[in-house]
Amino acid sequence: MIYLKTDEEIELMRLSNQLVGKTLGEIAKHVKPGVTTLQLDKIAEEFIRDNGGVPTCLGYEGYPNSICASVNEQVVHGIPKASKVLNEGDIVSIDLCVTLNDFVGDSAYTFCVGEVSPEVKRLLKTTKESLYKGIEAAVEGKRIGDVSSAVQTYCESHGYSVVRELVGHGIGKGMHEEPEVPNYGRRGCGPLLRSGMCICIEPMINMGSKNVAFESDGWTVRTKDKKCSAHFEHCIAIRPEGPDILSSFKFLEEVLGENAI
Ligand code: MF3
Ligand code: CO
Repeated sequence: MIYLKTDEEIELMRLSNQLVGKTLGEIAKHVKPGVTTLQLDKIAEEFIRDNGGVPTCLGYEGYPNSICASVNEQVVHGIPKASKVLNEGDIVSIDLCVTLNDFVGDSAYTFCVGEVSPEVKRLLKTTKESLYKGIEAAVEGKRIGDVSSAVQTYCESHGYSVVRELVGHGIGKGMHEEPEVPNYGRRGCGPLLRSGMCICIEPMINMGSKNVAFESDGWTVRTKDKKCSAHFEHCIAIRPEGPDILSSFKFLEEVLGENAI
């Protein structure tokens, strides 16, 4: 069942997603060599609660933290740890959800820790660009497959591979609603995009092969070949005027300045 949101509900979704964006901005201030992913988790949780929100991931299907922090070969769902110290040259994908006024916001961004190699920077840039290719294709009357294909075509044309096991999703009062939004697929296929649909588009793109494995904690997904993976996510609403991006990278970009990807 796909729940279409009213204009009022979309404005509530925007508020949740803007708090997600501000929390990513707060995290951006602290992504530096020497910080642990658990410290980033605590900073995010405090910031979310101080702003009247609830960290949706905490306790979700037993997930133990407020954010996912996935370093280098980790793709998504990295569990923050006191032992996971960020080093110069690492990348860290931060994915977080906030519940505010009963609606969930969800966005993710891959940060550079200090100076990162040009090859890895190119992976991040391409993955972020592919997110916007997907968003551009998210037009009323088109289909999910048009979004999927836009992301896949762009990333593969740059020599990267698309993770198959994890997908984007509808969102609303629930963090995960129908439909699924894969990052691979065929144009003209899949569920119809209708005004009022809210979806998360979240390319998870690997430098090497598309294959992934679970780490022993049962949550963290990593690449099989241990090469880097990037993850960028926006929450959008389908509207008659076109795709409406509800989340925001503006806050973290203000912090990163010209170092932003
Ligand atoms: N934001 C993630 C997503 O888009 C959710 C994290 S899963 C959790 O699916 F279990 F960690 F909450
Ligand atoms: Co998501």
